[in-house]
Amino acid sequence: MITNIRQLIDYWSQTGKLMRIRKEVDPDFELGAVVNHLYGRQPMYFEKVKGYDVPMIAGFGGDRELMADSIGLSSGRELVPKLIESIVNPLPTNLVPTAPVHENVILEPDDLEELFPICRYHELDSGRYYVAGVLVVKDIAGNKRYTSIRRMQFLGGNRTNILITSPELNEQYNYYESRNEPMEVAVMFGVVPAVVLSSQVSTHLYHTDKFNIASALIGQPLDVVKCKTVDLEVLAEAEVVFEGRMLPHVREMEGPFGELAGYYGKQAPQPVIEISAVTFRNNPIWQTIHPSSHEELLPMAVVREATLLSTVRQVVPGVKDVVVTLNGAARCHAVIQIEKRREGDGKQALLAAFASDKDLKHVVVVNEDVNIWDPNDVEWAIATRVQADQDVFIVPGANGSPLEASHNLRGVSAKMGIDATYPLYAADKFKRKSIPWGPIHLEDYL
Ligand SMILES: Cc1cc2nc3c(=O)[nH]c(=O)nc-3n(C[C@H](O)[C@H](O)[C@H](O)COP(=O)(O)O)c2cc1C
Repeated sequence: MITNIRQLIDYWSQTGKLMRIRKEVDPDFELGAVVNHLYGRQPMYFEKVKGYDVPMIAGFGGDRELMADSIGLSSGRELVPKLIESIVNPLPTNLVPTAPVHENVILEPDDLEELFPICRYHELDSGRYYVAGVLVVKDIAGNKRYTSIRRMQFLGGNRTNILITSPELNEQYNYYESRNEPMEVAVMFGVVPAVVLSSQVSTHLYHTDKFNIASALIGQPLDVVKCKTVDLEVLAEAEVVFEGRMLPHVREMEGPFGELAGYYGKQAPQPVIEISAVTFRNNPIWQTIHPSSHEELLPMAVVREATLLSTVRQVVPGVKDVVVTLNGAARCHAVIQIEKRREGDGKQALLAAFASDKDLKHVVVVNEDVNIWDPNDVEWAIATRVQADQDVFIVPGANGSPLEASHNLRGVSAKMGIDATYPLYAADKFKRKSIPWGPIHLEDYL
């Protein structure tokens, strides 16, 4: 079982899946441009980043098959069922007294910039950002560890901003702020894809300890260790950890920054973190996740697929599979595949989908003979099975995603459901043609 990034680097090196980047790259735009050239889908190991002696990785969780491979699954299709199982059956972690991540400890660092590269990503970004750190907090009762990823703009010295869009974490910060107390945080860099994936599971929905979800995904209790300057635990095998405090009643301007739906977000005052310690392994490996790349979008989509599948299943027992597409900003578009048992199953699946996630805008439901992983096949189903006056509905004026530009302009979002399933009473007219031969290996014919 692969529990840390070094094992994964070795495994993907041996299996030819890791791309080594030998040429020196500039942390200002160039590194990101190289990662983005392959959409953040390709695991890359940058040997030399200008101005630093630390190697850097990116693209480790941007491909569905590789993400599945990193947790020992043989196909990307197994990810969603495995995630649902891990949320339902989390695995407790193992507390250890000493840890590789404590091999080096810098207390009260005075210049974070000297330690690890802080990249610049988009032309109009307001500054340099940490974008891949997995934030760790405890719930207010102190029992559960919640992880998430929040971008942090470097403010100089030992200070960063933090952008928090989740109501849950904001409420927690407000609670401490109302008591005039800082909120303790830790931020982990250099972690395996399972840890990123579990960080995207909604706290609001499940209230499950996310380290335990990550352990269940990997299939082994992960080692955790107590932090040096805050009362939190972090993964013992993370490459680098920042420990710090979100200060009460302090805000500094943040943004604009290139957001995941492809536009720049606004400038606004955001809370500030003061870093109290940096700990890291010997010969640390630094990590980034390029904003809006597949590596950012995929874990968000997989988590949404798990919720969508569970919700639709409650009302349409024949649901087979779901996809939340990455080009729909990993939240606006979904395709649902059903084995239609009742005439109303298509519309019912669409209603369940919209009820399950306010960010969904356009959802298509298809029969089980359509490959929902192939957009061309979905288009074929829409072209040959939909009559818009009967099979499409639009609900105006509902809620939408704050990350979606056309919703933000209007403050509301319309929902469009497309039932691309054929009527059961005419099933014989919709039998797909097929060739009873194959699969073909063309090389056998040459
Ligand atoms: C690479 C990446 C970057 C992200 N950046 C942010 C961010 O800057 N701010 C934010 O609020 N959410 C961001 N998210 C989404 C949150 O991490 C996610 O909504 C959250 O972890 C869900 O957990 P929660 O319910 O505990 O908040 C990011 C996700 C990924 C994968």
